[in-house]
Amino acid sequence: MTMIALAFCAHAAEPTAPGEYTSDEFTSNEKCKSCHAITHIEWEGTMHSYAYTDPFYQKEVEAASKDTDGLVDTFCSRCHTPIGVVAEEIPPIDGSQMSEIAKTGVNCDFCHTISESAGIGNGVFTLSPGDTKWGPFNDSRSAFHDSQYLELQTRSEFCGMCHEVIHPVNGLVIDDTYSTWKNSSYADEDVDCQDCHMTPGITEFEANPGRAGSGAPKREHISQHSIVGGNVFITEMMGAEKEKGLAIERLQKAATLEVDVPETASVGENVAVNVQITNSGAGHNLPTGVSEIRQIWLEFKATDSENNRIYVTGGLDGSGSIDEETIIYNNVLGNEKGNETIKFWLADRVLADNRIGPKETVTEEYIFTIPEDVRYPVAVEATLKYRSAPQDLIDHLFDDGVHEVPVVDMVKSSGTIYDPESDPESRTENAPGFAGLSAIAAFIAIAQLFKRKRN
Ligand code: HEC
Ligand code: HEC
Ligand code: HEC
Ligand code: HEC
Ligand code: HEC
Repeated sequence: MTMIALAFCAHAAEPTAPGEYTSDEFTSNEKCKSCHAITHIEWEGTMHSYAYTDPFYQKEVEAASKDTDGLVDTFCSRCHTPIGVVAEEIPPIDGSQMSEIAKTGVNCDFCHTISESAGIGNGVFTLSPGDTKWGPFNDSRSAFHDSQYLELQTRSEFCGMCHEVIHPVNGLVIDDTYSTWKNSSYADEDVDCQDCHMTPGITEFEANPGRAGSGAPKREHISQHSIVGGNVFITEMMGAEKEKGLAIERLQKAATLEVDVPETASVGENVAVNVQITNSGAGHNLPTGVSEIRQIWLEFKATDSENNRIYVTGGLDGSGSIDEETIIYNNVLGNEKGNETIKFWLADRVLADNRIGPKETVTEEYIFTIPEDVRYPVAVEATLKYRSAPQDLIDHLFDDGVHEVPVVDMVKSSGTIYDPESDPESRTENAPGFAGLSAIAAFIAIAQLFKRKRN
């Protein structure tokens, strides 16, 4: 025991350097597929499989490389095509030297030949390609490869090697997904990234019984490799319909919404409506990742019974821009001159950050006046919306109108305001008290849950 401990201490992990391996030393996804067919189906179509080919990433890395005279080429590529970097197929950034396996982004043999980690952020993985595949089991046997248990792989620290991005020159934290999780109650309760992203539970661990490969024993839990976030845009663009659906489902479980309206209000009265948004389901900020690019916002509508608009905000104009007065939940980065920039590789400061933390609730107040000619009752509806990028950025990177960024309705809530003169009995039909119920219903877990066993 002591010897193992000593050996462990003496050997601090070194992240694998560019040129240490060639791409031939990694095994193709096709080979793994022959025995791990279901796992392969789950992985194919996820953003990990597109981490390099993603057309949005390609446009951005091209711009970043140009802006920095190629200084960021290895930096960006280390997470988006890790095999491309350790096999020194990048640079050049144009991909002309890339092998087929490197183009498959964050793939099977990459993740399963990670044998050690040197910490958190900027892709500090140590790879040991070859006969051994590291995994979550301590009793696993395969005719094709040796198996080795790696506790790291069952923990957020595994994902945290890449899901934490620190600017290599000025130290600005650009993606704080891991550290936000680490500072949340999810970390205290041992709810790791894998529990929400690799099980059917979405917001907590839920067992997924099955076999991990052909000829493998039945187990109480095997992980799912359909690791999705909120990316409905690229999955749609790549034709990955199943993953697009899973991303929508995930977004719809991330938050709850509640509108609080007065039961009655008279003509000429100023009405204040509170809308509460709670990040009830994400183990990190809403949004997270490249959150300076993501957009979450509230659409708010107060209309009378003849559908006349009393107060409407958060809609899109003809060019797909969100109306100016709308609060957008994300973070705004600034460059060295203090000017706002969406190019995170040029950023050195945070100008604003109103992302919604794990379990945090924020309240917005909307005030409007009941107009003279109102037709009661007044319907109030709030919808939390998500899209992966601003339309004008995509129109700028690709040609105008080529890609419309899909907008997802995450959650809705509504209420009704009645004429104070009306008969209280007649108000029950659409009683505002029902408003919050749909949101609560989505929250009741129906599946059988049990605490996962760790090896
Ligand atoms: C992003 C990294 C990543 C990629 C890519 C990936 N895996 Fe995994 N895999 C994991 C993690 C993490 C676990 C363990 C999760 C846990 O149990 O907490 C795992 C578990 C497994 C297991 C053990 C059984 C199970 O499902 O729990 C097998 C087998 C496996 N992966 C095969 C594959 C194959 C085949 C591919 C490619 C189609 C693949 N993996 C791609 C991270 C990855
Ligand atoms: C000849 C069939 C076969 C091929 C090919 C194959 N595996 Fe496996 N693998 C298995 C079997 C069987 C298991 C045992 C599963 C179990 O114990 O439940 C296994 C287990 C694993 C585990 C779990 C190891 C552990 O200790 O937790 C991982 C990870 C894994 N395989 C990854 C891969 C990867 C990556 C590839 C492609 C490079 C691959 N396998 C190719 C049959 C295969
Ligand atoms: C309690 C469940 C839960 C945990 C724990 C969790 N997530 Fe998530 N994650 C979600 C939900 C729900 C979403 C969808 C909402 C969103 O996009 O933020 C999501 C979205 C994401 C996204 C997409 C974000 C975007 O908008 O672009 C990434 C990336 C991600 N998670 C990575 C991670 C990593 C890495 C960890 C661990 C450090 C983790 N998640 C832990 C539930 C969870
Ligand atoms: C090699 C670094 C690497 C590792 C390790 C890694 N990821 Fe990722 N992950 C990426 C990259 C790069 C992308 C984004 C690809 C893109 O959008 O072009 C991504 C995308 C994702 C997404 C989709 C985000 C969205 O907007 O829909 C989720 C969710 C996610 N990862 C979760 C995880 C989890 C959970 C783990 C650990 C089990 C993990 N990742 C391990 C690099 C990594
Ligand atoms: C430490 C790992 C890491 C590094 C370094 C990194 N990224 Fe990423 N990148 C990720 C992860 C993880 C995601 C997914 C986050 C999310 O979905 O919000 C991502 C997402 C993206 C996206 C969004 C893609 C989409 O489809 O929405 C773009 C664009 C991107 N990265 C460009 C870059 C560029 C350009 C660089 C270099 C300046 C870079 N990345 C460096 C890990 C990294």
